[in-house]
Amino acid sequence: MRLILTLLAALALTSSTVASAQEPIIIKFSHVTADNTPKGQGALKFKELAEKKLPGKVEIQVFPNSQLFADDQEMDALLLGDIQLLAPSLSKFDRYTKKLQVFDLPFLFKDLDAVNRFQTGSVGKELLNSMHGKGIQGLAYWLNGMKQLSTSKPQLQRPDDVKGLKFRIQDSDVLQEQFRALDANPQKMAFSEVYQALQTGVVDGQENTWSNIFTQKFHEVQDSITETNHGVILYMVIANSDWWDSLPADIQTGLSEAMNEATVYANQLAFEINENDRKQISDAGKAKIHTLSADDLTEWRKQMEPVWKKYETDIGKDLIDAALQSNN
Ligand code: LMR
Repeated sequence: MRLILTLLAALALTSSTVASAQEPIIIKFSHVTADNTPKGQGALKFKELAEKKLPGKVEIQVFPNSQLFADDQEMDALLLGDIQLLAPSLSKFDRYTKKLQVFDLPFLFKDLDAVNRFQTGSVGKELLNSMHGKGIQGLAYWLNGMKQLSTSKPQLQRPDDVKGLKFRIQDSDVLQEQFRALDANPQKMAFSEVYQALQTGVVDGQENTWSNIFTQKFHEVQDSITETNHGVILYMVIANSDWWDSLPADIQTGLSEAMNEATVYANQLAFEINENDRKQISDAGKAKIHTLSADDLTEWRKQMEPVWKKYETDIGKDLIDAALQSNN
């Protein structure tokens, strides 16, 4: 009898081990933008590719639109292991490294192609590993687009026009300094709270890409958008590094391949999505789009550029110079 019981127990143990070995690894990927944005599309493409390359071995669950965590909570959730993947804007890493602040310097990159050159070069690639000691592994950079300024004012043409206005910013000290350099009042706020803050007049304006403005409907509660292209919104796809390092080799390889392919896809799409969303905003006719003359732009640049000097020591002059090189 005892022998039978022992055999049955051994059998149960074996079958449960087999069953659990067959269970796919659940990978939660949380983010704050809509599905029809560059980041949203990248996340869905990654899911499709990873599940195709590793059939039955992984299940990627994508949670868009701050559904699971807002961007002031998602990093803690990653570090605690509640989620495995995130793609925060590079402006939201202040607490973990000062180096990524380089991406927030106003008028540093002339366009997204320059950003892409920098990120795929050796200096950019190294930055993916810059937070490993803090439990964060960078897997890829994803592009969104150039930032524009939206407000409840009829028009912002010269830097003086923003004096005294309240602007929502991402959680970034460089961006705070950028608005202070314009004598405006920056206010750090989670992305999920921006629409309401604009609608109720808690803030007068914000800076963002065409795709974020359109998908969050900011243009419906703002009177004007000035096409300043004064900065960029970009992402680092990150994993909890303990979790990433503990993955079986075949899974890690499959996920890396899927990530590389999803990155190419999302980064090409970013240009198209932003162009298309600019047109949709223009066609909707709610917020009027203003462009700047070369002379206006020189003024905006002049007013914002002192921010570079202020952050040069924190970021490192080498890094700033390397980023500038990518404009050539
Ligand atoms: C923002 O907070 O404005 C953006 O970083 C949101 C995003 O993830 O694109």
